[in-house]
This record gives sequence, C-alpha cells and structure tokens, in this order.
Amino acid sequence: MPPLILDCDPGHDDAVAILYAARRTRLLGITTVFGNQSVERTTRNALSILTLAGLELPVAMGADGPLVGARIDGGDVHGASGLDGAELPTPTAAPDRRSAVEFMIEAAHAHQGELVLCATGAMTNFALALEAEPRLATWLAGISAMGGTIQVGNTTPVAEFNIYADPEAADRVLQSDVPLKLVGLNVTRQVGVDEAEIAALRQGGRVARAIGDLLAFFRESLRRVHGLSTASLHDPCALLPLTRPEIIDYRDLPVSIELQGALTRGMTVVDFRTVDPTKVGSIRPSVATRAEIALTVDAAAAKAEILSALHEYG
Ligand code: RIB
Ligand code: CA
Repeated sequence: MPPLILDCDPGHDDAVAILYAARRTRLLGITTVFGNQSVERTTRNALSILTLAGLELPVAMGADGPLVGARIDGGDVHGASGLDGAELPTPTAAPDRRSAVEFMIEAAHAHQGELVLCATGAMTNFALALEAEPRLATWLAGISAMGGTIQVGNTTPVAEFNIYADPEAADRVLQSDVPLKLVGLNVTRQVGVDEAEIAALRQGGRVARAIGDLLAFFRESLRRVHGLSTASLHDPCALLPLTRPEIIDYRDLPVSIELQGALTRGMTVVDFRTVDPTKVGSIRPSVATRAEIALTVDAAAAKAEILSALHEYG
C-alpha cells in the first residue's frame, strides 16, 4: 500500500473519505482546500472528523480560492459550516504549522516514487505545489481524483464541481504528466447510500451514528438541489483504485479541461473517437493530454466496501 495524502474540502463525502482512508490506506496526512466551504471551515471540519474518530493525523491548510477568478462554495449542499447535520466534537488538535503545499512537497521528497495524492476537492493545492517544486511531478507515483464527468454535470449542465471550482488548476495537473486517475459523476452518482443504509449507520457505534446523521443531511440536500434519492459517496470512490482496484474500471483516454467556453468552462472533454485524424483533413486531432477515466463501477461492492470501514469505528 503506497503512502497517501488526502487533499479534501470536507464536505460530507470528504468526511467519509477521511474515515475510509484512515482505515484502509497508509494515510500520512490531510491537506485542505476551499470548495464546499472556505478553507478555514474545511480545515476545522477535517480536524473535527479526526477528533470524532480518535485519529491523530496532520492537517495542513491550503488554498482559499482558485488560481483564476472568484471562489465558489458548496454551502447550498453542505450547509453553512460545510459539514451540517450532526453534533461534531470541537477539534482537539490545531492545523499543522506547514501549509498544504509545504506538506505535499515534504512528503513527496521523503517518499520519492511512492507517494500518491488523492484529490477530493479543487486541485489548487496540487497545482501550486507543482509550481513551487517542479520536481514534484517526478517524485509522485500518481494522483487519484474525484472530478469531472463524461455525462451530466452538477455545477453546470456539463461541468462537475471540483473541476469547475478551479479549471486552471485541473489543467495544470493534467499537463504535468503525473499519472492521473479521474472518477467522475457518471460513476460516483451510482455509489449512493439510501435511507436503509443511513438507518443502519445510525444503529452503529458513535462514529457510524454521526456519519449517519451527516449523510441524512447530505441526502436531503442532494434531493432538494439535484432531485437525487441517495447520498452520493463521490469522494471515497477516488480511494478505491488503491484499496479495491477491481471495483471501478478505468480507461486511458485523451482528456482536456475547457477553460474558455461561456457555457462549457470546467468541462472535462474526453475523446472516445477511434478515427485516425491524420487520414481525414476535416477531423480535428485528439489532444496529447491523457488520463485514466472511470467508466463503470460495481456500485454494490463499492458501497459495501466503504460502509464496512465506517462500521469498524467504535
Ligand atoms: O461534485 C462532487 C464533488 O464536489 C465532491 O468532492 C463533493 O465533496 C464536492 O466537493
Ligand atoms: Ca469534496
């Protein structure tokens, strides 16, 4: 199991990703970013979840806005705190003295060729770290991110929240040639917990009960805002390639991030064509940037795997 940093914006599904990663991966620490709420709130939420579960891990605060443009926030879905819906403990630890960028670079230098970064929010911290230390691209074993979609969007008709929050950052990460896995809404929306699974969590131990309350709030938000009937476990899906690689199928494909389009900014444009553009002058060539794009999932196995880890906490 490779050493891992989880860069996140807790956020309800990020909270599940933290608890899952702490049980099932070699989690070195957490870095936080703006997105579902301000970075001050997402950092507090990460520390709160660690306190809830009795976990001692460094949490290094990161960027509070995108490389370009205004900060978006997901308060309409995740609430004013970014993690509404449960009584969570006041954090017993403070944020790490290092910034997210410093923490990422230090860890990658110490674990050259091994470290995996998991992104479950905007990719701003990774982009800034790559800019601060270009050798990071050779030190990293890979990045596994929750982001994008090959079908319907959420923040816009065609763009997914994490990419839309900072398209320039996602583009820089893509251009860095660090091996990138992207699991998008087309997969993660299939991995949604329903009322019965939430009720089962609420019958569990202290941690499971709190997560059950959080997911009940999240499910209601997704119903109200997006008309969904389950609470999508978007973010923990980005960890499954490390822990249960048979659950999600990825395919290596050309992909680019739309930065300009008035209607399409933040869209992940995946090229599924098989034509050889060199043979037909009218066809636009494919892009050079590639990533492994998640296409299918064993949703039942994904939910069972993630929920089993949550029930292991007291
Ligand atoms: O589009 C889903 C993503 O946006 C998830 O990471 C969720 O936490 C929000 O950040
Ligand atoms: Ca997130």
